Amino acid sequence: MTNFLKTSDFPVGQLSNLLNSAIELKRSTGDDKPLAGKSVALVFFNPSLRTRASMQVGIYELGGNPVTLEPGGTSWTLEHRDGVVMDGDKTEHLKEFVQVLERYVSAIGVRTFAELKDWELERTDPVLSAFARYASVPVINLESAMHHPCQAMADMMTIREQLGRNLSASEAAPKRAKVLLTWAWHPKPLPMAVPNSFALAAAQFGHDLRIAHPEGFELDDELIAEIERHSSEAGGSIEFTNNVDEAFEGVDVVYAKSWGSKEFYGDPNGDIRTRSSFRDKWIVDEAMMQQTNNAFFMHCLPVRRNVIVTDGVIDSANSVVIDEAENRLHIQKAIMTELIK
Ligand code: CP
Repeated sequence: MTNFLKTSDFPVGQLSNLLNSAIELKRSTGDDKPLAGKSVALVFFNPSLRTRASMQVGIYELGGNPVTLEPGGTSWTLEHRDGVVMDGDKTEHLKEFVQVLERYVSAIGVRTFAELKDWELERTDPVLSAFARYASVPVINLESAMHHPCQAMADMMTIREQLGRNLSASEAAPKRAKVLLTWAWHPKPLPMAVPNSFALAAAQFGHDLRIAHPEGFELDDELIAEIERHSSEAGGSIEFTNNVDEAFEGVDVVYAKSWGSKEFYGDPNGDIRTRSSFRDKWIVDEAMMQQTNNAFFMHCLPVRRNVIVTDGVIDSANSVVIDEAENRLHIQKAIMTELIK
């Protein structure tokens, strides 16, 4: 393992080992300090609660020291493109930023959201790719334009835990579940990193995945092809639907997330106008959950209550959103332990 940029860089066996390590770490007393004497930079171009807090706490619990930087806030504004004349508002180039930082730290975590301006450019993950290109220490993706692999791994861990819940010691937990990834209405377009990474990881782990969204909100074609390939290799299945009335039927897991239409990248008002007709239908409510196989409800958070999901669902016994957030801590500790030697 050199970087942790997306789950499909690793075979599922290695991902599964990380889940096992995270489950061990969750149970452990925390005496192991594999990061003792080491620092890890956490570079946040965007806001965060879970990622920032869980990374800082995780590094501390592993014996290390987190160094949090916010380009344009607590550190200089950054240019990531090669060969540009830097006579605009960017003060420092990413090349020096990374090369200086790695004289101090053993790994660099990066959060850099999609700007939702230029689809063809942003689907290449330009800022994260620049970090990976310049760094000789491991780079950890803390949510980029296209992927949020730490979230997806916490999600896979949460599903594994939930499938094993209420079983006696002699019963083996099922490995596969019928998982629904459903789009939900939100007042403005959001990036696709979470649904991309969730669908990819669910396919790698061989879950039977249903992806529901209104027409015009398809995920990236190349990514879908990759998801289908992994699903087939893992013995899972994948289906797509634009029919929200049928999407919840018989599933074991409901994973809700809103995302923007790639057709309206750079035109948020066009997206907002298009999505307005989906407001009443595309919300996870009690009636939708009743169509499921007593599914548990997942969301990466933050979530807008009574917009994406009703109070009744998120506050129900079937909601595992807080466990999911807790698992970010454990899986990231497992990833850092593996990555930072
Ligand atoms: N789910 C997630 O990444 O949360 P934050 O944006 O608060 O870090």
